[in-house]
Amino acid sequence: MTPQHIFLIGPMGAGKTTIGRHLADLLGLSFIDVDAEIESRAGADIQWIFDMEGEQGFRDRETKVLNDLVSGTPPRVIATGGGIILNADNRAVLQCSGLVIYLSPTAEQLIERTRRDKTRPLLQVDDREAVIRKLVEERGPLYSQVADLVFPSGSTQPLRLAKKLAEAVSTRG
Ligand code: S3P
Repeated sequence: MTPQHIFLIGPMGAGKTTIGRHLADLLGLSFIDVDAEIESRAGADIQWIFDMEGEQGFRDRETKVLNDLVSGTPPRVIATGGGIILNADNRAVLQCSGLVIYLSPTAEQLIERTRRDKTRPLLQVDDREAVIRKLVEERGPLYSQVADLVFPSGSTQPLRLAKKLAEAVSTRG
């Protein structure tokens, strides 16, 4: 049987990695971050992959890593990149490989939290605010489509939110 992983999905700046680490600790599971795994396999950072291979090259790597991780055991907490839900196959894989938690901050919170970001290629633009609003609008329905649980994540302290998530996960058995 496919192991029941716990996936954190949501936009860039939602806190998936920080909250995911806390959640894994609280549940006694190991944690892995899809972006970090992509970088480790490529031996290069995401910006370099976008520069050399374009966004599609990055997306292909993302799909490969997701598929490899879901077939691994034991179950883990897996933080995903904000664009993982763009691909319908990825959405299907997420839905049938475990519990999907959508961390959902407001566009305003994301704009504030990513204000100084220098590592996310899609945000290195003149009008970052417009890009974030567009991503939230376009991707929001896709996150909702695959999510088993939705949590507003923008204003709660990470450990506190992770405790809420751990409680919700435990209640679901
Ligand atoms: C992306 C989100 C990033 C990373 C890449 C593309 C996106 O991950 O995968 O820069 O398309 O939203 P985070 O959501 O962890 O920042």
